Amino acid sequence: MSGVTPNELPDEAQLAGMSRDELVKLGANMDGVELVHYEDRWPVKGTRAEKRAERQVALWFAIAAISGLAFLVAFIWWPWRYEAPHSTDHLLYSLYTPVIGFTLGLSVLALSIGALLYTKKFIPEELAVQQRHDGGSGEVDKATVIAELADVGARSTLGRRGLIKKTAGLSIGVLGLGVTAVPLGGLIKNPWADSDSKDSLWHTAWKSENGEKVYLRRHTGNFHDVALVRPEDLDAGGFETVFPFRESERDDDEALVHALKRSDSPVMLIRLRPNQAVVKRAGQEDFNYGDFYAYSKICTHLGCPTSLYEQQTGLLLCPCHQSQFDVFHYAKPRFGPATRALPQLPITVDEDGYLIARSDFIEAVGPAFWERKS
Ligand code: FES
Repeated sequence: MSGVTPNELPDEAQLAGMSRDELVKLGANMDGVELVHYEDRWPVKGTRAEKRAERQVALWFAIAAISGLAFLVAFIWWPWRYEAPHSTDHLLYSLYTPVIGFTLGLSVLALSIGALLYTKKFIPEELAVQQRHDGGSGEVDKATVIAELADVGARSTLGRRGLIKKTAGLSIGVLGLGVTAVPLGGLIKNPWADSDSKDSLWHTAWKSENGEKVYLRRHTGNFHDVALVRPEDLDAGGFETVFPFRESERDDDEALVHALKRSDSPVMLIRLRPNQAVVKRAGQEDFNYGDFYAYSKICTHLGCPTSLYEQQTGLLLCPCHQSQFDVFHYAKPRFGPATRALPQLPITVDEDGYLIARSDFIEAVGPAFWERKS
């Protein structure tokens, strides 16, 4: 209900000549707002107490900025790659998650405390009662609302508190940068840097170095226990997940664990039933060994493990978004969001009867990335 009658409304010329305070009061009256209580927190400006309060608020914003910066630095540079227990760097590796969690949490907390303190210490205490009214807003309403918003900014006294403005701006900026870095962090990898290495996006842990044999091993749960795979270990229609193993890594705990942990390591070794008709991919006709086919386990949609195999239909199912890959047809997608076939690992059997990789995959495994054409 408006507290101003139409006759009391100012005309255009009067409106243009009104100060911000007058417009605020007029707006409040028109909206039937009654100011029951108003108290400036600092009626005397520039006192020691006011400056102390200002420093308190700035301190929290500074803590938010510093911890946000620490989060950013840790997120980008902290050694996050897996290190085996008992290795010298294991402690650093195991601290990665707590460190980024603590720094990000502290930054958000300090920013919230700073904002809360600022509200409590500098925003005037005001109690107003407003009547509800119907209808849209006219020109006068719009002008008074704008004045009111400007007044809120002025009353917050933020304009003349340079220290708080700077520290708050810094903390919000650093935190914003940190939050942006989280989704972008995974993209900070140059696919062309060291592109021959097995650690590049173009290769996998199956890449042989210096001509060394790369065996297929099963994971027994104990990384010391190296169980190599022979064709007779798998029944017709069966499958198992295998990982790369090099003889030079047998006594290297770190390398053994790393080979099991790498995201591009898992491969589905499938033994089809004899006489199963199979369509092979052009140029990859000899990638299988008899009835044995090895496909990357990493879904080409978003990288989940395609761990469900139905031997009757030859379909491999990814549980994340239900993509299905047809093993009888070079693992091309039959259903779901994946659009590329699972890459096939060329395999054979060595002179001792163990299954080995003939080479690395000939294409990148897993989801697409920005430089990938296939
Ligand atoms: S990750 Fe496999 S279907 Fe989405």
